[in-house]
Amino acid sequence: MSHIAVIGGSGFASLPGMEFLEEVCPETPYGQPSAPIQRGRLAGGDFLFLSRHGLQHRIPPHAVNYRANIWALKSLGAERVVGLAAVGGIHAAYGPRLLAAPDHLIDYTHGRDQTFHEGGEAGVVHIDFTRPYCEALRADLLRRARAAGIAMVDGGTHGVTQGPRLETAAEIRRMERDGCDLVGMTGMPEAALARELGLCYACLAFVVNWAAGKAEGEIAFSELEANMAACVDPIQRILTALVSVEA
Ligand code: HPA
Repeated sequence: MSHIAVIGGSGFASLPGMEFLEEVCPETPYGQPSAPIQRGRLAGGDFLFLSRHGLQHRIPPHAVNYRANIWALKSLGAERVVGLAAVGGIHAAYGPRLLAAPDHLIDYTHGRDQTFHEGGEAGVVHIDFTRPYCEALRADLLRRARAAGIAMVDGGTHGVTQGPRLETAAEIRRMERDGCDLVGMTGMPEAALARELGLCYACLAFVVNWAAGKAEGEIAFSELEANMAACVDPIQRILTALVSVEA
């Protein structure tokens, strides 16, 4: 059984350096996950890998089947889940290419299937979400990054928007007033669903652009892609260190 899972987002349809072991396509009560789940090995440690947007990057943030994804990982034995998230930087301290392990989030998404607890015979179930991320896994990510000499910010508030469009400058100003440091589109309901199933979930965010209005002019997608590419190596090194201890 693999106890750690990685959900790869934009820029991570697979994990570089991963030795491929097998692919599994578990059925869930919520339909199919975004892609077959890969069992892989990095530095002797086994883990599960799931591409959030599908193998050909065809599923936009609002159409991801978050429930099937989280259910499938749990059914395959995952206990700890790292959600990779390409994000825009809002706060001046979160510029492009920075890595962060946010400690809070604000959910601006709508219309997504956001719970496993639909009521009816099963009754009404609430979960505590005071701290949306698993502190133990966040601390582990930060420790691995430090040991590898890779800068990673401890904390920050991750605002999650609906997408797929980027935000207006006014929306980003509002998010800033709300206290958001980072903005992405896939952090929710992923984190809440993981909590509902008792998984230890943390977000490893990597900044690929200044959020709308935070730099001169419009957001340049060429720069965004270059920043994304630059984050692959440090993230791969952190995850390798994290996974290797699972062996
Ligand atoms: N906004 C929302 N999601 C994002 C951004 C952004 O600026 N950059 C990467 N994902």
